[in-house]
Amino acid sequence: SGAMDPVRAKRGLWSSRLAFILAATGSAVGLGNIWKFPYITGENGGGAFVLVYLLCIAAVGLPIMMAEVLIGRRGGLSPVNSMRAITSHEGLKPAWRWLAVIGVLAGFLILSFYSVIGGWAISYVGTAATGQLTGQTAESIGAIFSGLLSDPLTLLMWHTLFMALVMVVVARGVRSGLERAVSILMPALFVLLLVVVGYAMTTGHFGQAVAFLFQPDFSKLTTSGVLVALGHAFFTLSLGMGVMMAYGSYLPKDISIAKTSITVSVMDTAVALLAGLAIFPIVFANGLEPGAGPGLIFQTLPLAFGQMPMGSLFGTLFFLLLIFAAWTSGISLLEPLVEWLEEQKGMNRKVSTLGAGIVCWLLGIASILSLNLWSDFAPLGMFAMFEGKTIFDLLDFLTANILLPLGGLLVAVFVGWYMSRQALESELSMSPTVFSVWYRVLRYFTPIAVAVVFVYNLV
Ligand code: PHE
Ligand code: NA
Repeated sequence: SGAMDPVRAKRGLWSSRLAFILAATGSAVGLGNIWKFPYITGENGGGAFVLVYLLCIAAVGLPIMMAEVLIGRRGGLSPVNSMRAITSHEGLKPAWRWLAVIGVLAGFLILSFYSVIGGWAISYVGTAATGQLTGQTAESIGAIFSGLLSDPLTLLMWHTLFMALVMVVVARGVRSGLERAVSILMPALFVLLLVVVGYAMTTGHFGQAVAFLFQPDFSKLTTSGVLVALGHAFFTLSLGMGVMMAYGSYLPKDISIAKTSITVSVMDTAVALLAGLAIFPIVFANGLEPGAGPGLIFQTLPLAFGQMPMGSLFGTLFFLLLIFAAWTSGISLLEPLVEWLEEQKGMNRKVSTLGAGIVCWLLGIASILSLNLWSDFAPLGMFAMFEGKTIFDLLDFLTANILLPLGGLLVAVFVGWYMSRQALESELSMSPTVFSVWYRVLRYFTPIAVAVVFVYNLV
C-alpha cells in the first residue's frame, strides 16, 4: 500500500540478518528461560512436560514465529498498523487488527510482573557481590529469599529500578548499542550457565537431573501441564503479542524468515535446557523440592555460587547478565505499546513511554504485594481453576496461558486462512516442499492444537 511508504522509509531497516537475530534473541532469551522454565518443569514433573514443551516449540512456536515476522515485514509498521495495512491491502476485515491489540495488552500486563522478577535478580547482585552466599546452607539461602519476598519496600525499590532501565531505552528509541551488547553478553550468560553446569556435575546428582529432565514419565503429565507447556512456548519465544511483528517490520526483504526464526528458537531452547541442567542437580543434591515454585532458581543457584571457587565473582556476573537478558526482554514488552501510541495517538515517544511505564509500574505493585501483605488474597478464588491464585499468579496465568496462545491462534488463522497464499510465498521464498509443510502445520496443526488444549483446560 503506497500510502504507507513514507512512514516506512522513515523507520529504516536492520543493517543485516545478524542485527535482527540479535534483537529477536534479546527479546526471546530472558527470565522465561532461566527463571520460569526450570520452575514450571519442576512443578510439572520433569521429562514428559519437557517433551511436550519441545514439541510446542517446534510445531506451534516456530511456525507462528515465522508468521509473525512475515506480518511485520509485509506491513512494515508497528504491529497494530501492520495488521491494518495488510487487511486493507488484501481486502480483509479491519477488525483483524484487534489481534495485535490483544498482544499489546498482554505485553503490558506481562511487563508489570516481569519487572518485579527482574528486581529479584537485581537484588541478588548485591547479595552475591558482598559474599553473603559463601558457605551457606540450603536453609539459610531459603531464608535470604523469603526475607526478600516479605519486604515490600525493597521489592519496590528494585522493581522501580528495573522499570526505569526499560523506560530509558524505550524513550530514547535507539537500541543499536544494546543490540551489539547482546552479541557479547548473551554468549557470556551462556558460558556462565556452563560454569554452573560444570559445578552441578560435581554434585553427584547430575545423572538424576538428566533423567528427571529427559526421561518422560507420562503419569506425571496433567492437562493443565500441557496448557502450561504450550503457554510457555509462546512466552519464551516472545510470541502472541506482536514483538516479532514489530521486529520483523525492520527486516530487509532479501533475508530468510525461516532461517532467522529457526536460529532464534534454537538459541532460546538451548538456554532453557542449560538452565535446567544447571539447576536440577543442585535441587537433588540438597534435598530441595523440584516443585518449589517461582523461587526455585533463587534457592538453588546461590547455593552453587556459595560453594564453587570464586563463587562471589561468578554469582555477581551471573545475576548481572540475567538482568541484562531480562532488560532486553522488558524493552521488547513495552515497545509495541509505545510504538502504537506514537503512530496512532500521535503522542511523542517520551510521553508515551512515561505514561505506559508509570501505569505498568503501578500494576507491578499489586504483584509485589501479592508476595507478602496480599499473599492470601485470591481475587478469583471462587472459581476452582483459580483457587489460591494471587494477583501475581493470575497475571502470569492470564497472559502466558490465555492471551499469548489466543494471540498466536489468531495469527495462525489470519496468516493460514485469510492472507493470500501468493503473499506468503513471496515473503517466505522457501522451496515449495518446505513451504507446504509450514503452510499445512500453520493451517491445521497449530490452530487445532491450541484449540484442543484450551477446550480441555477451560471448559
Ligand atoms: N521471551 C521472554 C522471556 O523468555 C519474555 C517475553 C515474552 C518477552 C513476551 C517479550 C514478549 O523471558
Ligand atoms: Na525465552
